[in-house]
Amino acid sequence: MDHLGSWRFLKVFLPAVFALHHFCHAETAPYYSFVQEATSAPLVSYYDYIIVGGGTAGCPLAATLSESANVLILERGGSPYLDPINKTDKENFFLPLLDPSPHSYAQAFVSEDGVYNHQARVLGGASVFNAGFYSHAETDFIKEAGLDGSLVNDSYLWVEKKVAFKSPVLQWQSAVRDGLLEAGVLPFNGFTYGHINGTKIGASIFDMDGHRHSAADLLEYADPMKIKIYLHATVPKIMLITEIGSRPRAEGVIFEDALGVRHTAFLTKDSESEIILSAGTIGSTQLLMLSGIGPAHQLEALGIQVVMNQPMVGQGMADNPLNGLFIPSPLPVEVSLVSLVGITQFGSYIEAGSGLNLAPSLVQWISKSLVTILNQTEAKVNSSSLLGARLKVGIIIEKVNGPISTGHLELQSTNPNDMPKVMFNYFQAPEDLRKCVQGMETLINVVNSKAFSKFRYPTISTQDLLNLVATLPLNLRPRHLNTATSLEQYCLDTVMTIWHYHGGCHVGKVVDQDFRVLGVDDLRVIDSSTFNFSPGTNPQATVMMLGRYMGIKIQQDRHS
Ligand SMILES: Cc1cc2nc3c(=O)[nH]c(=O)nc-3n(C[C@H](O)[C@H](O)[C@H](O)COP(=O)(O)OP(=O)(O)OC[C@H]3O[C@@H](n4cnc5c(N)ncnc54)[C@H](O)[C@@H]3O)c2cc1C
Ligand SMILES: *[C@@H]1O[C@H](CO)[C@@H](O)[C@H](O)[C@H]1NC(C)=O
Ligand SMILES: *[C@@H]1O[C@H](CO)[C@@H](O)[C@H](O)[C@H]1NC(C)=O
Ligand SMILES: *[C@@H]1O[C@H](CO)[C@@H](O)[C@H](O)[C@H]1NC(C)=O
Ligand SMILES: *[C@@H]1O[C@H](CO)[C@@H](O)[C@H](O)[C@H]1NC(C)=O
Ligand SMILES: *[C@@H]1O[C@H](CO)[C@@H](O)[C@H](O)[C@H]1NC(C)=O
Repeated sequence: MDHLGSWRFLKVFLPAVFALHHFCHAETAPYYSFVQEATSAPLVSYYDYIIVGGGTAGCPLAATLSESANVLILERGGSPYLDPINKTDKENFFLPLLDPSPHSYAQAFVSEDGVYNHQARVLGGASVFNAGFYSHAETDFIKEAGLDGSLVNDSYLWVEKKVAFKSPVLQWQSAVRDGLLEAGVLPFNGFTYGHINGTKIGASIFDMDGHRHSAADLLEYADPMKIKIYLHATVPKIMLITEIGSRPRAEGVIFEDALGVRHTAFLTKDSESEIILSAGTIGSTQLLMLSGIGPAHQLEALGIQVVMNQPMVGQGMADNPLNGLFIPSPLPVEVSLVSLVGITQFGSYIEAGSGLNLAPSLVQWISKSLVTILNQTEAKVNSSSLLGARLKVGIIIEKVNGPISTGHLELQSTNPNDMPKVMFNYFQAPEDLRKCVQGMETLINVVNSKAFSKFRYPTISTQDLLNLVATLPLNLRPRHLNTATSLEQYCLDTVMTIWHYHGGCHVGKVVDQDFRVLGVDDLRVIDSSTFNFSPGTNPQATVMMLGRYMGIKIQQDRHS
């Protein structure tokens, strides 16, 4: 077959294979007739709303807008429903994160801080492989964002009807709960969606059987006649028109299918039509820059035509630091992933998981370090009895709220598939470091509590546990002589991400209160890139709520 012939063959054949594959799994997952491979898209099409990124915000937003207009989602990843259902179950949380293949739901990267991190690449976004905890924003967050409280509540409820479940609290999680109470993270607030100081049981997008639900399930609310979703549709650029004497205006987007063929989707001439970026903190920020909206000197250096010099795009990006301990247990531990949270008065959140499948490489690291450390102590622990594919290990972590420290994003190339350079400057603000140290002190008190005693070896001291993490290659940052003996140094050296990064398109700096890009017509950004702070203990409830909320707001504007 000549080159063109094989290309034609693929173009006809591939979508058929994908379609068949989808059909075969239809009974185990929602089958959406409106989800198709981008290879099957016409070269030119028209929609009232074009949403870039079918992620945690994009799915509820599109489903809502389809109630009264024609909507297109362009998603660079594939469907979350084609793989075996257990791939994203609770016990397999670490597996997508450690899967280096280009088909992994999680695109791995290392930030300039030397911390491993991930960006979503699948319909449903990060909700398809995150830790599942579901908890509302603090009331101050809603107030400061100027959102309508009653529509916020209705929108949370709309999300919860489909994807929120009460988390089971078995033996190990109960011990953590009681340990938090002993450590003074009071009062106990029982089960609640609300963000209240003290210890609480939260909801989860994992159901009682440990099966995951995600923002993609919210597409069940969509009107199938008014929505179209293309997968493996990567948007390299928003098309902006600039006419002399008027503001730049978004008129359409370019998208590339799996075969590299470029398609164009235009807005209908309807005056209310809009393009909405929901490509996530990194994706939306990157896409504004690729489209010519960003710091002029940076764009010019890459040969991007500057549509609007906007120095704030990519500034003020932040990631909440995560630090914690691995705690080998003499007793079996249940499979659990963040059923509860300790909300401390000083601004650190404590969460935990146990009995998870760790990839063989991680098991090897932990075993090796553990054996060495146990050999150096008086502990009479048979280290090989701790190890197996599923370690008898619990993990307790703390997240610094806010944070105050911020960084920035810089493009590395004009290729939308290349990760931009991202720097978060963890712990640059002393207050963030202070919260981490206090959080670690509280966490250590939980481990040392009476309630938790049956799930730890008395012979493995908390200093041994700190030593263990200090010797694991969990990031690429330098270790120091006092990494494991000074909690300050421990926070700095063993920092990881809780993947709650946000910012880059802040409200008031890049978008207005209604998330319209400042200085540009027919273009909004609705996702985690607009947040000044990470909402609540964990952001996804609020990201999904915002998608629904803005879908309603935009429809109200359209009809008034
Ligand atoms: C491992 C992990 C664990 C987490 N645990 C929790 C938790 O337990 N609880 C919680 O509340 N939060 C958790 N989070 C955070 C939460 O999942 C995210 O904050 C949230 O999902 C972000 O939503 P978003 O809509 O901003 O972006 P995303 O959900 O990332 O959606 C962006 C979408 O845009 C697509 N996209 C990007 N660029 C383009 C382009 N150029 N063209 C086309 N498509 C594009 C991406 O493929 C993606 O699907 C976790 C996150 C991770 C990664
Ligand atoms: C999923 O379940 C199948 C069948 O029980 C099993 O063979 C497979 O190993 C499981 N996969 C994961 C990632 O747990
Ligand atoms: C929204 O719900 C919260 C929590 O239930 C409640 O405190 C608040 O008063 C509600 N707001 C409105 C405007 O109904
Ligand atoms: C909860 O803790 C915060 C500090 O994180 C504090 O500002 C606030 O006053 C506390 N609220 C209550 C009701 O105690
Ligand atoms: C344990 O320590 C002893 C004495 O220091 C040493 O000989 C041995 O090699 C160590 N074993 C392991 C597995 O590190
Ligand atoms: C340690 O545990 C392993 C696996 O449980 C067992 O095979 C081995 O005999 C034990 N070794 C000692 C010294 O108890």
